[in-house]
Amino acid sequence: MKANIPLIVGNWKLNPATLKDATVLASGVARRHKKTDAPYVAVAPPFPFLTEVEKKISKSTVALATQDVSTEPLGAFTGEVSAAQLRNIGAVYVIIGHSERRALGETNEQVTKKVLIALKNKLVPIVCIGEKERDEQAAFFGVIEQQLRALAKVLDSKAIKKIVIAYEPIWAIGTGKTATPADVKEMQLFIESTLTKLYDRTTAGKVRLLYGGSVKPHNAKELHEEGGMNGFLVGGASLKAEDFIAITKATV
Ligand code: PGA
Repeated sequence: MKANIPLIVGNWKLNPATLKDATVLASGVARRHKKTDAPYVAVAPPFPFLTEVEKKISKSTVALATQDVSTEPLGAFTGEVSAAQLRNIGAVYVIIGHSERRALGETNEQVTKKVLIALKNKLVPIVCIGEKERDEQAAFFGVIEQQLRALAKVLDSKAIKKIVIAYEPIWAIGTGKTATPADVKEMQLFIESTLTKLYDRTTAGKVRLLYGGSVKPHNAKELHEEGGMNGFLVGGASLKAEDFIAITKATV
């Protein structure tokens, strides 16, 4: 991936309800995202739709992402899906540690295990971090630092450059309350300086950062231009091909 080209990932979550709707959405995105278009674009459908979505996007430059991955490689783990299996059906990216999964009990330890197994299987982990709420004393920066420290415990400077970090303030997810471009810029600088402390400046500058949380066609341009991050993780607005593509176009 070229560092100067943004990455836009559509996280479909538990949508849509049918395979038909999923393939229509995937085809719509693939048709509208021309081969010559920057940025990099990926969609993350629910597990049962992955292979059919893959068929719809395989001739385009839209890549396949998944919403989760197991910490385990193989064996007696009912309900789990492994990194090798995902890689085998054409997945390129895997979203790890989304706040909706952390809310179900996923811990930093599980997140780091998933990151390691994803890297081992040549998937690009998109690791979500973010605070529940903002407080006047700015303690929320501590939450972000803790999440970054957990990653730095297991990833050396070579490995951290292979992951994508998605900053998603939980209060902005699915709420229509977007962080302001200034909030995003402030967080970009904070993440970069924390990574500089944990690694070094060159390494910190090479970790791709995404913003996520109520990104819509109308706010994408400003968030991209002033926020200083290099792409978006998009939830709700990725369920309409036109809106999702409008967001991708706002970053070029
Ligand atoms: P949203 O979701 O765009 O609907 O706020 C973002 C996300 O959860 O990745």
